[in-house]
Amino acid sequence: MVRLLTIIGARPQIIKAAALSRAIKNEFAGMVEEKILHTGQHYDDNMSQVFFNELGIPSPDYNLHVGSGTHGCQTAKMISGIEEVLVSERFDAVVVYGDTNSTLAAAVAANKLSVPIVHIEAGLRSFNMTMPEEANRIVCDHLSNLLFTPTLTGLQNIEKEGLADSAATFACNRHRMAYHCGDVMYDNSLYFAGVAEQKSDILERHRLVSQQYVLATIHRDSNTDNRSKLESILKALAEIAENEKVVLPLHPRTAKKIAEFGLETKGLTIIPPASFLDMTRLEKNARIILTDSGGVQKESYFFKKPCVIIRPETEWVEIVERGAAMLSDADYDRIVSCYSILKDRNVDFAPIFGDGKAATFILNKTIEYLS
Ligand code: UD1
Repeated sequence: MVRLLTIIGARPQIIKAAALSRAIKNEFAGMVEEKILHTGQHYDDNMSQVFFNELGIPSPDYNLHVGSGTHGCQTAKMISGIEEVLVSERFDAVVVYGDTNSTLAAAVAANKLSVPIVHIEAGLRSFNMTMPEEANRIVCDHLSNLLFTPTLTGLQNIEKEGLADSAATFACNRHRMAYHCGDVMYDNSLYFAGVAEQKSDILERHRLVSQQYVLATIHRDSNTDNRSKLESILKALAEIAENEKVVLPLHPRTAKKIAEFGLETKGLTIIPPASFLDMTRLEKNARIILTDSGGVQKESYFFKKPCVIIRPETEWVEIVERGAAMLSDADYDRIVSCYSILKDRNVDFAPIFGDGKAATFILNKTIEYLS
């Protein structure tokens, strides 16, 4: 029996972890035992608990309740809490997702104790070191034994950094392995798309008509923590809202900053952070999506929606190259013009994120590696 400790902390990680937990429960019962550690990075019910309920993920076995703080302080508390758990219980590997401070903390703690690290959503790069996520993912990739990339570009990035060299450099004569496996978020979107249509009443609750609204999300600190950027984004959304309804599920960070800067949100349909099923239904029925979230960019593509990426660059370069998305940065004119171009563009949404079975692939390779 392979024993895995899965680390989650931020909203998107809870969602990604659901795909692996589901596969462990179904196809890998008796072969893999999973325990879950929640760092507590996200702690509001609508940023955390609701996802456990909807996605059928087992409640965390450990919760560090770290909460908000400066990045250094938040990460330090996580490292020390995760280390304590790894010292008290034997695990064959630690599984981490993406690029948040929780990911970084888990990688550091596990590496110091020579516990193998499995990094899911490895290899992504924005080549922008001012993003906290970029440093987190680079450090984590370098410390990880198994790297699973959702895209081919991810695998190429790993090769360029010399991480695909499988010399034995880890404890117990272990080597690093890198695989392109598809996206666990695509596994989830396929699995939950139908459920969301049946169970979510988000459109009815907010009087939204399918194909007659724009969905927007903003949470990235580079956009929210800069008054003029946040103001530009809100102004562009308000301009778009003169033509069609703009729905904005508001991340707590963004809500706080709008209040602090005294900014206007007139004309926008602001709703609380959406649950996974609600967000899935919102995405499936939107006409076009504007976002600075990595996950929402991809989900736009899964559901065949054009996407304006409110960032200067993206890790998901394939969707821009295919013409399904455009980069607008936090620039008022560019947001409005990207929206105008994309809303009528005919895009071929060819499947580039795998076959919806990334979790099965990851678990097979992990078992093979550890045994
Ligand atoms: C984090 C991740 C980001 C990911 C995002 C998804 C890092 C560096 N960033 O950003 O990569 O895309 O999660 O949401 O790890 N807050 C609450 N309640 C909560 C959670 C947060 O009020 O449940 C507020 C707090 O004031 C906190 C702020 O939001 O200080 C930011 O939260 P934090 O987890 O530090 O970063 P995110 O912006 O959510």
